[in-house]
Amino acid sequence: MSPFRITRTLPEDATDAALRADVLAGLAATPKTLPPKWFYDAHGSDLFEQITALEEYYPTRAEREILIDRSGDIAAATGARTLIELGSGSSEKTRYLIDALTSLHTYVPVDVSESALTQAGQALAAERPDLHVHALIADFTGALALPDTPGPRLVAFLGGTIGNLLPAERSAFLASVRGLLSPGDALLLGTDLVKDERVLVRAYDDAAGVTAAFNKNVLTVINRELGADFDADAFDHVARWDADREWIEMRLRSRTAQTVKVPALGLAVDFAAGEELRTEVSAKFREEGVAEELAASGMELSHWWTDREGRFALSLATAR
Ligand code: SAH
Ligand code: AVI
Repeated sequence: MSPFRITRTLPEDATDAALRADVLAGLAATPKTLPPKWFYDAHGSDLFEQITALEEYYPTRAEREILIDRSGDIAAATGARTLIELGSGSSEKTRYLIDALTSLHTYVPVDVSESALTQAGQALAAERPDLHVHALIADFTGALALPDTPGPRLVAFLGGTIGNLLPAERSAFLASVRGLLSPGDALLLGTDLVKDERVLVRAYDDAAGVTAAFNKNVLTVINRELGADFDADAFDHVARWDADREWIEMRLRSRTAQTVKVPALGLAVDFAAGEELRTEVSAKFREEGVAEELAASGMELSHWWTDREGRFALSLATAR
């Protein structure tokens, strides 16, 4: 078995403090919002994996197709010896990349979900005795303390997770990724693309209700961590396409007028009947927009690959 290390870059109470701050600010705001990173406790990570297998949820299949077809090109273009993956989750699709990167020395999966990192990291270390796996429990929107590993480095951000950042968060995030790149390093970025509204809404409102359960899981996390008394059955799952901003919004709509208590914050939060709490945006992209956002952060798009149906794209970019 190859070396597997897992490092928590922030003390546990920092996560607790961040959750408190996000819940306090988000439930006091109008309209109410919560950041999507709190979906991903062990159960939420498992629900996300179930989503990736749904017929309606095409992004995972589409990105896997590109990785199967293009991992050889990515390996040839980068020659990466270290692969850093942000929001790595199960690392399932990443295996195509890892197999193609013949000079790879270290894989650094980075995620807020300790359960996902442990499962994926241990499985990979057992499968690939030659590979160093150094997992980081960290928030990719903060400053990342990366291990000292050989270059060139390839930073991968797959799945379209960049779409879950709001525009200002996205530009700050891309600027910090740019700061991680030395000459010869590269960014591999997965973006879901703008398409027919019906296809998009189905992907976020599946018939089996797995996405609804994923959405409501954030309430369970707040109940457990902050002693709140959210009743998940008192909220409906909503997925809506915003054509102006070109993003899907997931929301939870209160079925009735109700008051939710969050004892750890000394908070009582009123919801009107029909009031909606935004839990996630999932932005969809176009090639010009991706190239512009990369350029604005000091990077240059060098390759753009899509799946055969043109639903999803992988971009390769380098520092300018
Ligand atoms: N890359 C995988 C998983 C995508 S799901 C795929 O393509 O299938 C999004 C992942 O990002 C989850 O594992 C979640 O725990 C992680 N995540 C979400 N917000 C995060 C943040 N702010 N910092 C670190 N990880 C985050
Ligand atoms: C992780 N992220 C890219 C997913 C998405 O499609 O925005 C999260 C998700 N939300 C609902 N379904 C999947």
